Amino acid sequence: MANDVVLEIDNITKEFPGIVALTDVSLQIKRGEIHGLCGENGAGKSTLMKILSGVYEYGSYRGNVYMEGEEIKFTGESIKQAIAKGIAIVYQELSLVPKLTVGENIFLGREPHNRGIINWDKLYAETDSLLKKYKLEIPFGAQVGNLGIGQQQLVEIARAISEEAKVLILDEPTSALTEEEVGTLFAILKELKANGVTCIYISHKLEEFFKITDTITVLRDGMVIGTLPTTEATVEKIISMMVGRVMKERFPKGNRKPGETIMEVRNLTAYDPNAPGVKIVDDVSFSLRRGEILGVAGLMGSGRTELVTTLFGEGGVNVSGEISVKNIRADIRSARGAMANKISLVPEDRKALGLIVNDSIIKNISLPNLDAFSSFLRINKNEEYKMCQKYADDLQIKTQSINALVTSLSGGNQQKVVIAKWLMSSPEILILDEPTRGIDVGAKYEIYKLMNELAEKGVALIMVSSDLPEVLSMSDRIMVMHERQCAGILDQNEATQEIVMALATGIRK
Ligand SMILES: Nc1ncnc2c1ncn2[C@@H]1O[C@H](COP(=O)(O)OP(=O)(O)OP(=O)(O)O)[C@@H](O)[C@H]1O
Ligand SMILES: [Mg+2]
Repeated sequence: MANDVVLEIDNITKEFPGIVALTDVSLQIKRGEIHGLCGENGAGKSTLMKILSGVYEYGSYRGNVYMEGEEIKFTGESIKQAIAKGIAIVYQELSLVPKLTVGENIFLGREPHNRGIINWDKLYAETDSLLKKYKLEIPFGAQVGNLGIGQQQLVEIARAISEEAKVLILDEPTSALTEEEVGTLFAILKELKANGVTCIYISHKLEEFFKITDTITVLRDGMVIGTLPTTEATVEKIISMMVGRVMKERFPKGNRKPGETIMEVRNLTAYDPNAPGVKIVDDVSFSLRRGEILGVAGLMGSGRTELVTTLFGEGGVNVSGEISVKNIRADIRSARGAMANKISLVPEDRKALGLIVNDSIIKNISLPNLDAFSSFLRINKNEEYKMCQKYADDLQIKTQSINALVTSLSGGNQQKVVIAKWLMSSPEILILDEPTRGIDVGAKYEIYKLMNELAEKGVALIMVSSDLPEVLSMSDRIMVMHERQCAGILDQNEATQEIVMALATGIRK
């Protein structure tokens, strides 16, 4: 093995019942490089990383892995063994304990002891200096469950860094981070690289590979399609390697014709239930038309998610202002009230909110929609199956069967299940909060197509997104939020990245 290779993956094959997740994967990771790994949802990225980090023990796959020339055979407490070998991972799914503090989570299972008793002072002092060193502005004593998902993601990253690994694996670390936080992360990665740490980096935001990686490997259907130096790669090339064909456009052209107003929102204000008097949505007014897509842009923390969850009734009684649907004052103080008005919400935090983990794909899609194929309290199973299969096909959910457990799906495919569930509820107003986060380019395109189809049928859509090209290309109008208020509503033809950013940051009023 060449001297500069730190990790050698040799002919790995991994099967799950009925599915081959990886086929003869061979890959060399060089010392000190940032190696990007990309591929469609279900391509096998996370599975490969879970082999390297000991989640799947030696013996549960075929092939060999060599770390610094030595074969690794993690069994028993295999995750601990991987850490001891110098391999740390930030999982795609958040794996923190919400009830514990930031410091407790970072040192979970490795707490500093003093004569058999946990040394709390030391634990918090070390947490504090770790966070300061990497310029992470997170309160070390805060309960993790009270942090936003972006901050939780940063805590995960801090935990992995604190393990002082030689190889750091990041499985979609930026899906929940703000632009600024991504900048912080990239600075950290560059510093680690300068210190000789090797990094494997997974993302669906292809532009990131060009900012941070040295090498890119593309997986498709569990096989390595190719590895190339980032300097020789282009976005188009990577996409065609990922999807196996040339994709000419990233946003399908719709034929939307916005019609009459379906919803009117006047002076909507929502208060923080935990902090009386603090506004989380501040005096927002707008109207929404049938058949249009209204994009909602803004920085993280600007109130976008709070706006749409309030529209879905989650503000309860802590809300003032008026919402009317079809010219009738609507009582939306609960999700039930929202659904009675044919409003559906695909939530932002799909990992936590969306899924019943012990159930099948089909049950996860159909559960809130049972009325659609029930008569006299009996479920028409054929109809249920047909409808769910149609949505699974449209969204390209990668599975052997929709009867499989939802947890057998890859991260991105689990997200598609949540989207399918709400699409099937045949809403008249469909709110999507970050609908394409963690979803591969090909499937994004299918989601945009479905959004267009729904709008063409007269459904009104509200789409919150941090992806500016997506908002600019897919919306008829764009509302920009700034500090909990609506900073302006732009028509698509007058909106540019610059104007949206100027409104979002408060530079332009
Ligand atoms: N625990 C499991 N049981 C059964 N099948 C699984 C399991 N974990 C993964 N798979 C299957 O293995 C394949 C690869 O999944 P993997 O999670 O590695 O994909 P991925 O490339 O990380 O995708 P994503 O971008 O969506 O995260 C998929 O077909 C998935 O359904
Ligand atoms: Mg994955």
